[in-house]
Amino acid sequence: MDKLLVEGGAPLSGTVRVSGAKNAALPLMAASILADGPLTLTNIPRLGDLRTMGRLLGYMGGRAELYPENGGGYREEALLDMSSLDKPEAPHDLVKTMRASSLVLGPLLARHGRAKVSLPGGCAIGVRPIDLHLKALAAMGAEFDLTGGDIVGRAPKDGLVGADIRFDSVTVTGTENVLMAAVLAKGKTVIRNAAREPEVADTARALVAMGAKISGIESDELEIEGVDSLKAASHAVMPDRIEAGTLISAVAMTGGRATIKGARLNDLAVVMGKFTEAGVFLRAENGDLTVEAHRGLLSAVNVTTGPYPGFPTDMQAQFLATMATAKGASIITETIFENRFMHVAELRRLGADVTLEGRTAVVKGVERLSGAPLTASDLRASASLILAAMAAKGTSEITRVYHLDRGYDRLDEKLNGLGAKIKRVKAD
Ligand code: UD1
Repeated sequence: MDKLLVEGGAPLSGTVRVSGAKNAALPLMAASILADGPLTLTNIPRLGDLRTMGRLLGYMGGRAELYPENGGGYREEALLDMSSLDKPEAPHDLVKTMRASSLVLGPLLARHGRAKVSLPGGCAIGVRPIDLHLKALAAMGAEFDLTGGDIVGRAPKDGLVGADIRFDSVTVTGTENVLMAAVLAKGKTVIRNAAREPEVADTARALVAMGAKISGIESDELEIEGVDSLKAASHAVMPDRIEAGTLISAVAMTGGRATIKGARLNDLAVVMGKFTEAGVFLRAENGDLTVEAHRGLLSAVNVTTGPYPGFPTDMQAQFLATMATAKGASIITETIFENRFMHVAELRRLGADVTLEGRTAVVKGVERLSGAPLTASDLRASASLILAAMAAKGTSEITRVYHLDRGYDRLDEKLNGLGAKIKRVKAD
């Protein structure tokens, strides 16, 4: 298991390119189950979670040509041909490492009429049930049993039927699951209170390229007219807005000036607004984003997470870390997940002054953090620890960085490219 040694204090400068988005690539890979021909995805990032999804597609009998497991021979293109799928099952050992495995449920029911998917358990950031996914798929005629920890689902004999669905609360993968099921269902489906995250729109656009009929893309009401089959297509995965936000945060915390290439700035409006309010200089030019910040000159800003276009929960840990050295007190409120402050205890070890009260963190900026041994608890928390360690005085050792590699495409290498001093060491 790798660990990272981070020597703090180096200001960042240079240019860095954003990779394809994890949260778009995952549903897109699941969408390949729906097509009669191969789905080619470009701009595929190098991530542990995508390897897991590739393994799952292979387990089910499909052909998932992704980069090799050992990380060598990377190509940014994946070819997914699921026409040979003969085992519509997602076993526990794959689902437990990646909750998003449940994204295969809708496509399997729509294309193969049955699915057996291990029920995702709790994870570090909260309980995360999939009851809303199941309720919506049931409205389309699917029936579910829970046996031995697996959800066993069946579509009616003649396939799923379109339905008028309203999600009680916004769910990103729930919207994607139902959207993927609806494209092959009989008749019309309306999804109300649909998640508006850009990753949902990216999935919808790929489905349209495969022959699906979807209107209302980017809105909270999706209308889908079912078709009989979907064909081969090719789609470029959208850039990762959370990676872009994490890079902004890195420059904000360490000071310096860097150019981020390949980000889609429209998707980042609220995040950029909050960093600007805190005193970070952001300039968009020819699609690139220049970030400039001066150490010790940031000021406290309050943030409340919310579904898109609100402030993303996936940026909460990084923003909170940024506030740890800002002037004044900021109030960070997490409304999406009930237990997403695991990073706080670790940030305190670096000297951050944070008090937690339920879903709210009060961060009182300190002048300087100082290096310490740290343990990463989840994906975005690990990023926040790296950023804080980069801003701290002295060296920090961060263990359990496999969380980082699940969802960031070589973040440590990219940061080193900007002048950070992060050493990856193989630990046993
Ligand atoms: C997705 C993202 C994740 C991000 C999250 C919120 C992927 C692969 N993951 O996760 O990175 O942090 O959106 O933006 O895209 N809920 C229920 N019942 C359900 C479904 C959800 O109660 O059936 C609750 C969840 O526990 C949570 C909230 O709804 O409190 C939002 O979750 P959801 O949008 O579904 O998150 P994911 O799709 O799992």
